Amino acid sequence: MTLIAGNWKMNGLAAEISEIQSIVSGLANYSGADAMICPPALLLPAAVKAAAGSALAIGAQDCHAEVSGAHTGDISAQMIADAGAVAVIVGHSERRSDHGEQDADVLAKAMAAHQAGLNAIICVGETDRQRDAGDALKVVGSQLDGSVPGGNPDNIVIAYEPVWAIGTGRTASEDDIAAMHDHIRNWLASHFGDAGQRVRILYGGSVKPANAAEILSVPNVNGALVGGASLKADDFLAIVAAA
Ligand code: PGA
Repeated sequence: MTLIAGNWKMNGLAAEISEIQSIVSGLANYSGADAMICPPALLLPAAVKAAAGSALAIGAQDCHAEVSGAHTGDISAQMIADAGAVAVIVGHSERRSDHGEQDADVLAKAMAAHQAGLNAIICVGETDRQRDAGDALKVVGSQLDGSVPGGNPDNIVIAYEPVWAIGTGRTASEDDIAAMHDHIRNWLASHFGDAGQRVRILYGGSVKPANAAEILSVPNVNGALVGGASLKADDFLAIVAAA
């Protein structure tokens, strides 16, 4: 089933749990897509409580690769699972650029997520310079090579997010999205066989209620990773309704 996942990034105070409550009630009207919200870590317990017994899944944003230890300020996958979340976003371009994370770091985090029983939403995507140079497919292929764990892929989701489309209001063209998602599907099929056909490939980068239906209709687009438009329940629900 299509997955619409909201990435709140570093947005959301305790008062915004009301948005989660509104999403939970609104979801009762839609059964066409799986829905998930990934709030900041501090809101995870309250978000899990607000979503309990509903169709809304709660995920986290990033984790450390180790289970525990001397890593001031970090959060382990085990802690995320302990808080009741079911997934974690790893390898987001903001982690790759703000924190210098490399493919090997993303791989280690995805493996830690799996060990904790979480689904790993693994993000990949090229910069505008890489796209202009004609290297988009190659860059994403090499990110997949370096960031995706082997083994059973049933607990991974791939999110293709062109870096230049994130938070900019620019989206990739339908043709470019189709070409990239086809490329990612082929990569998954060649690494995982039939199981690779089942892995969901999300598109992310300025997905809004106004463009969601068009983007979600592109072949091999199995959902969306939504930043800004996931902060308001009405916008997020409109994207779920478009799925
Ligand atoms: P955006 O962010 O929807 O605000 O562009 C998407 C993302 O970074 O996951």
